Amino acid sequence: MRFTLNGKDTDVSAHPMTRLLDVLREECGLTGTKEGCGEGECGACTVLIDGDPVCSCLIPVAQAEGAEVLTIEGLGNDHPLQHLFMNEVGAQCGICTPGMIMTAITLGPEPTLDDVKTALAGNLCRCTGYSAIYRAIMKWRQMPDPGTQVSAAR
Ligand code: FES
Ligand code: FES
Repeated sequence: MRFTLNGKDTDVSAHPMTRLLDVLREECGLTGTKEGCGEGECGACTVLIDGDPVCSCLIPVAQAEGAEVLTIEGLGNDHPLQHLFMNEVGAQCGICTPGMIMTAITLGPEPTLDDVKTALAGNLCRCTGYSAIYRAIMKWRQMPDPGTQVSAAR
C-alpha cells in the first residue's frame, strides 16, 4: 500500500485493514501520534489525510492509499505552535497534544476563540482545563510567521 507520508513516498506491508494509527507507530516508527481511547472519542490520534483531520484509530490503512498523510512529525521539531503549547503550559501529560496541534493547523483564517473551541471539540484533554490550549492557539494565529497552516495552503 502506497501513500505520501510527511512528504515522502511510502510503501507499507501491513494488512489493508490494519489501523492507520498502528501502521504509523509500528511500521513507520512515527510514535508522535498517540492512542488515547482507541475508539474515535478523544482525538489524540489525529492526523491529516489530504488536509482533513481524521482519527487514525478508526481508519484502516487502505483508506490512506494514494493520499497525503501528515503527522505531527511532518511539522518538524520547531513549529511555533509546539513552542507555544510549552510556553503557555498547554501540554501536561502530552497525550492529547499532537492531536490538538494537528487539528489546530487546519483552522481557517483569523479564527475567533469560538472557532477554535468548535474546531477542537473532538480533541479531549484531561489535564489542562483547555484554557492554556486555547491561549496557545490564539497567540499562534496572531504571529506574523505561524509556520505550517494546512487550511491556508488549500
Ligand atoms: S485514540 Fe483515536 S480518537 Fe481516541
Ligand atoms: S495534556 Fe494530558 S490529556 Fe491533554
